[in-house]
Amino acid sequence: MLFSLNSDFMTIPQIQKEKQTILIIGAGSKSAEAIGRVLSMSHHPLRLLWLTSGTSPFIIPNNETIFQGDFTNRKEIKELCLHLQPNVIINTAAYTNVDSAETERQKAWQVNVTGVENLVAVCRLTDAHLIHFSTDYIFDGEHGPYVETDAPHPLGYYGKTKVAGENACIGGNIDYTIIRTNVLYGATKTLKQDFVMWTLKKLAEGKKFSVVNDQFSNPTFIDDLGYLVDKIIRSRAKGIFHAGGADWISRYDFAKMIAQVFREDQNHILPITTNDLHQAAARPMRGGVIPLKAETTFGIKFSGIESGLLAMRRQLQIAGHHEWTI
Ligand SMILES: NC(=O)c1ccc[n+]([C@@H]2O[C@H](COP(=O)([O-])OP(=O)(O)OC[C@H]3O[C@@H](n4cnc5c(N)ncnc54)[C@H](OP(=O)(O)O)[C@@H]3O)[C@@H](O)[C@H]2O)c1
Repeated sequence: MLFSLNSDFMTIPQIQKEKQTILIIGAGSKSAEAIGRVLSMSHHPLRLLWLTSGTSPFIIPNNETIFQGDFTNRKEIKELCLHLQPNVIINTAAYTNVDSAETERQKAWQVNVTGVENLVAVCRLTDAHLIHFSTDYIFDGEHGPYVETDAPHPLGYYGKTKVAGENACIGGNIDYTIIRTNVLYGATKTLKQDFVMWTLKKLAEGKKFSVVNDQFSNPTFIDDLGYLVDKIIRSRAKGIFHAGGADWISRYDFAKMIAQVFREDQNHILPITTNDLHQAAARPMRGGVIPLKAETTFGIKFSGIESGLLAMRRQLQIAGHHEWTI
């Protein structure tokens, strides 16, 4: 069911008090779909509600309620949350275009900082626990992969907005958990773009293409974020947790692994350096996040690239996307 934020949401059935109410912001994000997928299988009595700005396509999960509205509008989000009284708010919404953020600064700040400040204000009013996503782009990439106690030093405007968003949580006098992750990939119903989908499309074109061989990260399978969020909701663990895959590799090697797992021709992928690519925003070259704290705190293990890609391939097959999985 889709409700418009400023009109008909008051008509939804009363929230069942025995269930924890989880409000997921950014229904159309790549990570939200995987988080919802895992949480809806949780043995926990959870009621999942979703908010979308309508900027991205999304598929409404069975029997779940979606609101359309703008979380950067303080009045709108406050009214919604005062009505819903969520126990947990998960913020996956973000302005994530790293290069465009250099020029669309106001828009990036509005979503990544003002929006988060609004959620923090709402959590203060409702005592909700805020689970907020951040990135390894808050670091300069001189000495990655990074641990939670490393000092932020962003290179680009996107990273700066994400640091400011984190600071809004940390200084907000609320219960918060920040999950810093990097290079997300995985299957979604809308086939939302990520590095894997981009590489598969390029490979399908059958022409040679270039991928940087000097940017390093530990790509993260989105379903693993779902398991982490489930653990955080159960334990109400607070603070900062790094969430990243088990393998730390260059984008070029990642692309070659994608070709291998999806049985495409690796020879179409050529190495290129970042300097030759002329991207608008500077990138952390040795990025990535070390997930040891999350793994030891919650007894979980993040997927390595091969197992993550194989799982993604299986999910695409099951969903009938045989164009990518022959
Ligand atoms: N993708 C990565 O590789 C990566 C790496 C490191 C960290 N992260 C962080 O992880 C979180 C989730 O990332 P993701 O990749 O899942 O997000 P995503 O797929 O890029 O989606 C972001 C979502 O934010 C929502 N949004 C709200 N207001 C928006 C606006 N004004 N303009 C554009 N979008 C708006 C949109 O969902 P609705 O249309 O439903 O509102 C959009 O789908 C973010 O905090 C991101 O910074 C991502």
